[in-house]
Amino acid sequence: MVKKGKIVAGCLAPHPPHLVYAENPEQNEPTAECGWETLRWGYERLRKSLAKKDYDVLIVHSPHWRTQMGTHFLGVEKFKSLSVDPIFPNLFRYHYDLTVDVPLAEAIHDEAKSLGLVTEMMRNSDYRVDYGTIVSCHMTNPDWDKPIVGISSNGGARYFNMDVMQATMMKLGQATKKAVEASGKRAVLLSSNSLSHRHFVVESPVVEDMSLEHINNHNQYLWDMRIIDLFRTGKCQEVMDIMSDFTEQATAETDGGSLSWMLSALGIPDYPATLHGYGTVIGTGNAVMEWDPVSRGANA
Ligand SMILES: [Fe+2]
Repeated sequence: MVKKGKIVAGCLAPHPPHLVYAENPEQNEPTAECGWETLRWGYERLRKSLAKKDYDVLIVHSPHWRTQMGTHFLGVEKFKSLSVDPIFPNLFRYHYDLTVDVPLAEAIHDEAKSLGLVTEMMRNSDYRVDYGTIVSCHMTNPDWDKPIVGISSNGGARYFNMDVMQATMMKLGQATKKAVEASGKRAVLLSSNSLSHRHFVVESPVVEDMSLEHINNHNQYLWDMRIIDLFRTGKCQEVMDIMSDFTEQATAETDGGSLSWMLSALGIPDYPATLHGYGTVIGTGNAVMEWDPVSRGANA
């Protein structure tokens, strides 16, 4: 009999390509002098925390793999290619070589399908993995020594509305939890998104010049602080209740459903999350946070 698997952590793991650029890993062609340290130190703290959890797989839901209809899953064991950010080709030209846990992806797919979701396994080995998936996974596990499960986001929030999308993500979260438990594996979930997402439209001459980095506007900052405070005090149901307003008023990147999916898979936590770091990237608000469903509390 297979030992019952479990979700050992859920993480808010934003994906600005600037973070990988500033890390200067060998996979990325452009090089930086510095930049966005508060967020990169936040990811460093997250990595230290996850290192103690002995996990088998990263499951990432990305706003930048947008399938208009339904939820798709990476369904090929190996992907190797060059990912170029369409907006920031000057910062992100990343050579990736990653492994997918296809059996777990298929299991989540099957559970989601049985709950009535529109689903698809993505079997094209030439598919170019999106930079949202790559950046969140790189910053969480730069050694790439664990397989991933890649899940697409869909256009439900725009085509219908946030409430429809959120209801769908609730089911996807439940399907994820059930499949992980049946797999016997220890999984870490990554919600790959910023909080407030209104950004500058002109790049500074030196991209990593931190004297020019700040939140886009005060309204966005207030929203970010409100959401982080709710997370730190274990009030995730309240975040779910105001997700539509937050997404609309803060132009938040939660419109892809990543955060709703993760909170659902964690059972809508009523325990505090750990804030590993907060910072802005081209004016957007980003938090690196971690929920520990095993200890049910903040660990830092
Ligand atoms: Fe994004």
